[in-house]
Amino acid sequence: MKHLIGLVLGAEDDWPTAFEALAARVGSFEWRGERHELEIERVFNEPFDLRYKPRYSLVVDRVGWWYLLPREWLKKIALMDDVYLLNNPFTFQSMEKHSAYCAMMRLGLKVPDTWLIPHKQPPWNERFPTTAERYNRSFDLNEIGENVGFPLYLKPFDGGQWRGVSRARNQEELRRRYDESGEQLMHVQSAVDDFDVFARSLSIGAETMVMWFEPDKPMYDRYHVKHDFLTPEQGLEVETISKVVNAFFRWEFNSCESLVREGEVFPIDYANASPDVAVTSLHYYFPWAITALVRWCAFCLAEGRRMRIDVDTRPWFEIGDRGDLSYEEKLHEYRLLADEHFQTEAYAEFCAGPLAHLEAAAHEWFGSDEFDRLLVATVRSTFPSHEHEKFTEHYRGLLSAWSRDR
Ligand SMILES: Nc1ncnc2c1ncn2[C@@H]1O[C@H](COP(=O)(O)OP(=O)(O)OP(=O)(O)O)[C@@H](O)[C@H]1O
Ligand SMILES: [Mg+2]
Repeated sequence: MKHLIGLVLGAEDDWPTAFEALAARVGSFEWRGERHELEIERVFNEPFDLRYKPRYSLVVDRVGWWYLLPREWLKKIALMDDVYLLNNPFTFQSMEKHSAYCAMMRLGLKVPDTWLIPHKQPPWNERFPTTAERYNRSFDLNEIGENVGFPLYLKPFDGGQWRGVSRARNQEELRRRYDESGEQLMHVQSAVDDFDVFARSLSIGAETMVMWFEPDKPMYDRYHVKHDFLTPEQGLEVETISKVVNAFFRWEFNSCESLVREGEVFPIDYANASPDVAVTSLHYYFPWAITALVRWCAFCLAEGRRMRIDVDTRPWFEIGDRGDLSYEEKLHEYRLLADEHFQTEAYAEFCAGPLAHLEAAAHEWFGSDEFDRLLVATVRSTFPSHEHEKFTEHYRGLLSAWSRDR
């Protein structure tokens, strides 16, 4: 069986090229008595008849969150043609960051205290002044600040790429930041300060990589190559939280930010429709990410995994609502649901069996001249010319470290 994978792309060229190269090295493989082969194609935006039949079996989407045409095309091919999507545009559209906070709070995760406050500047609608006059209660921003506690963060309820994120240490700053928030609908969230570890995890299907992250550093230096920076229990907790978020919302390509302070894990951000997988950000972890993406796509197709459009909250909330289970016991139960959702066991069998050769192929390709040319081209298009040499060497070093660690 030949399976066509479509890539819906924006400006990025690094990971798609690596993905294409690696997918080509999968070759023909056997799974559950049938032979499979992958083919990759970049998708072009064009008008479409809602009844047309797409050729794709699976699509990896990177722009639907921002652009309506591809987003609506993705919905059509999922609803009408059972095309498998990474990610699920339905739940990403209806369940942004805010819904994710709500759901994870109900599951008992340690999301910092968060309030939603009305727009400073409501979007214009001619009926709005009357509605607001009748029904909008005046409120005391200072009181909310005191309730949440200072310092705190103001962030748009649907978030992304640090847009509109700010910090306030006192009432005056809160007032000022709120005034600046304009037409954005904002959360006010208690800051988790003095944390020991900022863990950013990237999940691709059933795989999750938990990485040491420094948000205040420039892009190229945010992910650090560090191992064992969490205790095994904390590592499992951070990983489980990421998997739970993804299984709950049926997202398969997402990053999750957790702050670890004095042994407690506080998840603060976990709804990224298009997580950063640039080689210039991920460097050492880039080969893992691309290999995982190829493996997961291959698994979904060979296994005939069905894309689920909707969210089934019930089994999760049944556990979350139980008063007799501790936080740890609930996490354990959620992990079982997440592993079932991601078919963790079958996936491990798949990776160790028909796709076992991919690790060696990745090792070979990421050490090749072809990859080096891609790296150099990416550095050239990312940094100013006086930095090309420095950064080329910087990334070469990190990728050789990955290669040595294999
Ligand atoms: N409650 C918090 N406590 C401590 N730091 C926070 C908190 N909320 C946000 N931050 C800081 O602000 C940054 C941006 O916030 P957040 O991740 O929620 O926004 P975002 O727009 O989704 O960012 P991105 O898309 O880059 O991940 C975080 O990476 C973190 O450094
Ligand atoms: Mg974030």
